[in-house]
Amino acid sequence: MRKLPIITYPDERLKIPSLEVVDFGKDLESFVEDLTYTMKTSPGCVGIASPQVGVHKRIILVDTSNSKHKENKVSHGFMVLINPRIVQREGELVVREGCLSVPDYTGNVKRYYWIRVQALDVKGNPVEFETEGFEAVVIQHEIDHLEGKVFLERLVSPRDLFRRKVYK
Ligand code: NI
Repeated sequence: MRKLPIITYPDERLKIPSLEVVDFGKDLESFVEDLTYTMKTSPGCVGIASPQVGVHKRIILVDTSNSKHKENKVSHGFMVLINPRIVQREGELVVREGCLSVPDYTGNVKRYYWIRVQALDVKGNPVEFETEGFEAVVIQHEIDHLEGKVFLERLVSPRDLFRRKVYK
């Protein structure tokens, strides 16, 4: 396993839409292991998307199980979501978001409060679940990366951008 270098804004590679994963097997599994290691060794990181390490495939990882965020209502623990799609959505909430690819800022973004997600696991088996609150926000944030978007493009207003505190 190795820690993969993170691409940071405004690198043009963050704007490239990612492609569906069609090949499941050893190469995918070993990439997902590296991506997992990269996420877990980044302090405070609750999610990562494949294009953040320059691989434009529709792969996201999410883990809000250790988050103390006040909107952390439901957590499915560590999840590998391949080709994720939001198939139902309801409500809204505004959450202060951060991103490994935008290290110096956080910002307030409006998201759906509740979502139903369909995806594949790392073996290619279908998964479907619903979630809400912070975990739902993280999944929406990571899926945005697959579309070539970062949260800076979704701020509630230009004044909703803040200098980040340094993680220790
Ligand atoms: Ni991000």
